[in-house]
Amino acid sequence: MSTSSRIAGDGKIQFGVFFQGVNHTTVWRDPDSGSQTDFESFRRVAQTAERGLFTAFFFGEGLRLREHLGRIHDLDVAGRPDAQTALAALAAVTSHIGLVATQNTTYNDPADLAHRLSSLDLLSGGRAAWNIVTTDNAWTGANFRRGGFLAHEDRYIRAEAFVQTAKAIWDSWADGAIAGSRDSRRWLAEGGITPVRRQDASFDVDITGRLPRSSQQHPVLFQAGDSATGRDFAVRNADVIFSRHAGLEAARKFREDIVARTLKAGRPADDVKIFPGQEFILAPTAKEAEGKLQWVRERQVGPQTAIAYLEQFWGRTLDEYDPDGPLPDIDPVVEVTNATRGNAFHGKSAKELAAEWRAEATDKGLSIRQFVSQRSAVNGRGLVGSYDEVADLLAEYAHTGAVDGFNITPWIIPTGLDDIVNHLVPRLQERGVYRTEYEGTTLRENLGLRPPLTRRSRTRRQESEDVA
Ligand SMILES: Cc1cc2nc3c(=O)[nH]c(=O)nc-3n(C[C@H](O)[C@H](O)[C@H](O)COP(=O)(O)O)c2cc1C
Repeated sequence: MSTSSRIAGDGKIQFGVFFQGVNHTTVWRDPDSGSQTDFESFRRVAQTAERGLFTAFFFGEGLRLREHLGRIHDLDVAGRPDAQTALAALAAVTSHIGLVATQNTTYNDPADLAHRLSSLDLLSGGRAAWNIVTTDNAWTGANFRRGGFLAHEDRYIRAEAFVQTAKAIWDSWADGAIAGSRDSRRWLAEGGITPVRRQDASFDVDITGRLPRSSQQHPVLFQAGDSATGRDFAVRNADVIFSRHAGLEAARKFREDIVARTLKAGRPADDVKIFPGQEFILAPTAKEAEGKLQWVRERQVGPQTAIAYLEQFWGRTLDEYDPDGPLPDIDPVVEVTNATRGNAFHGKSAKELAAEWRAEATDKGLSIRQFVSQRSAVNGRGLVGSYDEVADLLAEYAHTGAVDGFNITPWIIPTGLDDIVNHLVPRLQERGVYRTEYEGTTLRENLGLRPPLTRRSRTRRQESEDVA
């Protein structure tokens, strides 16, 4: 594919690191596996990422531990420190990498979250980002005694109002709100802060913004949520989409869809960056990489994980099944696959799904463990190959503009980025598709973003008023 057919992007590829916590994509029993909660692990990963000129360090969020047949599902992310607390600590031991906190709009409030995010943004010198999610699992609401929970569409209505309110809070300090001189009588200029009043179906608030803007103006906005409503929400509000579409063809299709939606929303085609999540399994040769893939998969999905994974969909214990044997010959006991609170397939007919999976496993001659290890990988097979092969493939992503970057999920902590930084990054630099130094000090600069949307219209308005 030639460069001329690029859909978007600047011909380069960027990396973020998605520090996940222990789950079925993590090798946590190996002698090299480190703590998932000690600050030292976070520091090591963030500093390695920064040595490799990564754009961002990213945390997901789960507000409640997933449950499985009435028990805590400890094979899913458990033991994950609060993102903003951990990122504030990381701000002190890094200097350029962006710090991305996933925070939901369903259970937070704008006055509080906007303030905490701009605190991180100021304290990190303009490196904070908010990954906006609506959180699809209804059971999380039990934490908050909200009684019911919002329907899918209502979550996005609240999210839209939430983000508009947060942006208004960030814009509420005038550019000259802080007196520039020590001789001024007051630190704050008279009328420098405009209160934010919002009254609609989601909020009835009157908020005074408590902080000035950082050097990147607003925290950068990521978004994760893949429905049509989620995508339209992203192109109206976000700077970056954290997507699920990592394969080259799927990524190109997704990019085309997002570009069309972005233009429709009145923004330039390249205004929304795309970073899919992806696992990288690399080695000096292709053969060694295949061997490593098997090694990693066997450790990610042990016998207990394999059975627990299927139990989510069958809705009953499957202890009597051999993890190295065929998929269960019995049907699920539930109608729909929602037995594990929090799985990603709820709503689908359980029997249909089980039949599909059984046929696939028989067809490919896969045992339960082998099937689950393929099924539960972060994003399909992952990027697997020799350093050179993967560098060539990533150059193709860059040239076609399928993505702006990848949010890499290391399968082992804290050494999971070492081979990427030591062996892949230099090869990408040789191919001219990876930065050789940070472009700036803020995350907005390093992502190549324009000013925040609301600041742009303000600047244009201001300019036309000046002209008038
Ligand atoms: C790649 C990706 C990552 C996500 N990460 C999180 C997360 O860390 N925490 C969370 O509560 N929701 C997360 N979500 C779920 C979203 O909050 C959203 O609720 C869900 O995708 C349903 O919205 P949708 O129908 O638009 O996809 C993620 C979604 C995607 C696509």
